Amino acid sequence: MKRFQIPRGTADILPEEAELWNYIEQVSKDVFKRYSYREIKTPIFEYTELFQRGVGETTDIVEKEMYTFEDRAGRSLTLRPEGTASVVRSFVDNKLYANPDPTKLFYIGPMFRYERPQAGRTRQFTQIGVEAFGSTDPSIDAEVIALAMNIFQEMGLKDLRLEINSVGCPVCRPTYREKLVTYLNGVKEHLCKDCQSRIDRNPMRVLDCKVDSCQAATKEAPTIHQHLCDDCQTHYDQLKTYLNDMGIEYVENPRLVRGLDYYTQTAFEIKSEGVGAVGTICGGGRYNGLVEEMGGNDVPGIGFAFSIERIALALKSENVPLNLHQGLDVYTIALGEAAKRLATKVTYELRNNKLSAEMDYLDRKMKAQMKAADRLQAKFVLILGENELKEEKVILRNMGNGEQQEIPLQSIVEKIIQIAKA
Ligand code: HAM
Repeated sequence: MKRFQIPRGTADILPEEAELWNYIEQVSKDVFKRYSYREIKTPIFEYTELFQRGVGETTDIVEKEMYTFEDRAGRSLTLRPEGTASVVRSFVDNKLYANPDPTKLFYIGPMFRYERPQAGRTRQFTQIGVEAFGSTDPSIDAEVIALAMNIFQEMGLKDLRLEINSVGCPVCRPTYREKLVTYLNGVKEHLCKDCQSRIDRNPMRVLDCKVDSCQAATKEAPTIHQHLCDDCQTHYDQLKTYLNDMGIEYVENPRLVRGLDYYTQTAFEIKSEGVGAVGTICGGGRYNGLVEEMGGNDVPGIGFAFSIERIALALKSENVPLNLHQGLDVYTIALGEAAKRLATKVTYELRNNKLSAEMDYLDRKMKAQMKAADRLQAKFVLILGENELKEEKVILRNMGNGEQQEIPLQSIVEKIIQIAKA
């Protein structure tokens, strides 16, 4: 019979890995709560135009990475490659801008990009992200960055490098862009094919290219920092002051340009040594024009996203000690038909009383059942044999210290709950 393979760039998340994922989600959710971010869920597919307009026609994502298809009625749909465009659509659609306070949202879910798979880069990946709408104040930029750092540190990551930049705004960017294009045209023959075609379409991306010859050729390129308008300069300086006040270390990287078109002013990335060639575990920034571009009012926004896949890699490479697999409370060993009947009932009642309980379903011998209890890291083992039943008492063994005690049959559940919860 034919055996099926998993599609390239996707992964099965087996139970052990899923426990790690749950941990990453749980820490994130705990921290979101402390910062007053509330969850939003949007569809996994949207009309293609949303991403073309939101993410930008000349980005790699829109040009070559989207999973786009027609539905049965001939509408063009796309599996979401990121979360920001969808959240902005929903923000406008549902008039969330009517909120007098900044609207602070988080989301968790799968995203899809047709990229070349490698460690930390998959075609389906799960992003955890936030978007905060309604304030241009750099204190919220600082909050968003602090939030990301807080989550990673709380997970136990240490080798983190926060890079920040200002990518300017529609006031200062055109002048800078012109100077950059002139410079890039002067070194055109040293640039890779992709970058040569980026000069006119998306020149700032050239600064971010990883190809050696492009990096060498753009070493002396003008940076946006020399061209920021007063507003952007002040905003950037204030952001740094807030970060300094909070004691959050950062590195300024004037070449940091994100791969999506919507950013204005603040852009940032968090890197971790352990994530192979890709390095970046989190990226984000401010997008002051996006809500209006998507048909809403002039509402500013800022956010970030990271993928669970990359955080999982970073946690593993830093060997962060995590005790994720909680052992079982009680394993019930039953020998014989009557004991099995009782075990079934006791196991059910223990579970009903919020204890984790397991029993044997394979009529195995005592020794095999004991081994199963060990594999499940049971804290207690309850032994129900024919003799014990006759004498109307059962044995409860504490697997930690080997102590055994006899408990009367009538009060098994009560007694175990009492002992296990002590
Ligand atoms: P992004 O830099 O494209 O930004 O992606 C953010 C994060 O998603 C990356 O740092 C990485 O952790 C993860 N990621 C991206 N592509 C892959 C992949 N193929 N495999 C595994 N992980 C991946 C955005 O998506 C923006 N929407 C972030 C944002 C929110 N900016 C403002 N608000």
